[in-house]
Amino acid sequence: SIDELEGYSAPLTVDFLKANDKLVLDTQFFEESFKARLVASIENFDEQCDGLLMHSENFQALNLMQERYREQVKCIYIDPPYNTGSDGFAYKDSYQHSSWMSFLFDRVILSRGILSTKGMFFSSIDFVEETRLRQICDDIFSTDGFLAKIIWEKRFTRSNNAKLFSTLTENILAYRASTHVTLLREPRNEKADSTYSNPDNDPRGVWTSVSYVNPASKEARPNLTYPLTNPITGEEVNHPTNAWKYEKATYEKHVAENRLYWGQEGGHTYPRLKRFLSEMEGMVPVDLWKHEDTGTTDSASKLLEDEFGRKVFEFPKPPSLIKRVIGLANFGNTDGTFIDFFAGTAPTGHAVINLNREDDGKRRYILVEMGNYFDTVLKPRIAKVIYSKDWKNGKPIARDTGI
Ligand SMILES: C[S@@+](CC[C@H](N)C(=O)[O-])C[C@H]1O[C@@H](n2cnc3c(N)ncnc32)[C@H](O)[C@@H]1O
Repeated sequence: SIDELEGYSAPLTVDFLKANDKLVLDTQFFEESFKARLVASIENFDEQCDGLLMHSENFQALNLMQERYREQVKCIYIDPPYNTGSDGFAYKDSYQHSSWMSFLFDRVILSRGILSTKGMFFSSIDFVEETRLRQICDDIFSTDGFLAKIIWEKRFTRSNNAKLFSTLTENILAYRASTHVTLLREPRNEKADSTYSNPDNDPRGVWTSVSYVNPASKEARPNLTYPLTNPITGEEVNHPTNAWKYEKATYEKHVAENRLYWGQEGGHTYPRLKRFLSEMEGMVPVDLWKHEDTGTTDSASKLLEDEFGRKVFEFPKPPSLIKRVIGLANFGNTDGTFIDFFAGTAPTGHAVINLNREDDGKRRYILVEMGNYFDTVLKPRIAKVIYSKDWKNGKPIARDTGI
């Protein structure tokens, strides 16, 4: 009955349902014939479906996905059990390490089959199993596939309970599915954009600048050594020891395109090359992800508590961390399929929904989780975030914000 359903106090009226069309309907409460009619009424069901949640052991789920998703997945992110003793792998001796390794190997190698050749694979891991996970993944994606060990700053306060080190970081290993992945960029963020300004009112908009002086000497680079002219003072400018960064023909192009900045009233000794924000193509990714850009374990717990009104899971990942993973794996695109087969509290689904909401994207998520909290946390969480972007004490604070 309605009374037993958490969060619902009264039957919802038709008007309410019409006004809140992002409320998620759970068909488990309906008869089979209704479900069949509902599915039949949706054209191209498969294409329209933007999320798939599988309550399953992931080995079976990955087997099931082989045919349907062969080489179609843009990015896999996983956060496997870390084998730290609290997750069912009871003993940390060498035999247990090897059984953890074969557990992971069997699943990661299956997942490679559904990854696009332009796809990427990411796995969170702490220091206990990092080297072994690296071996497994190097085997599966080859050492060519390894791109980075990203250090994530998961907390920034010292734990005074620690007897030895207080661990503030964990890792995300990043691999490419093949050498077809040749260039990586990350979406720009506000912080990066805030370093741009427009002191000379350039019609191309805000810009930042880089030095024109080459670190190499004139002797080492004679082809990059020639006199410049400061256009404001009319003076000829030579560097006493160093070459310039560009050949003379490129310099002349920079002058013609007004790309050199000599300071207000030509006051700089050497010019700087302008780089316009409008011409920037994302940022080169780095392997140190600081808490202010990604969130922390604490901020992830707080978010989950806001959504449920109580504590429901230990050590979740923040959706903002996975959002960064997705932005990197899928730079410049707003579609693609993203899979997490150790889904836990569904931060990967959450991140995809948030991103689609921000840019009206068509990204899809597939989440696999075998734990019982699939029904009590994962599924209700996805339903909640589809309905409303923000929650407090388990209640939506923005209704119908769409996806
Ligand atoms: C470290 S947790 C993931 C936490 C998740 N990233 C989050 O932020 O909530 C690992 C999850 O994998 C699930 N899991 C472990 N072995 C599994 C298996 N063989 N198949 C499916 N899920 C599994 C566990 O139940 C657990 O929820």
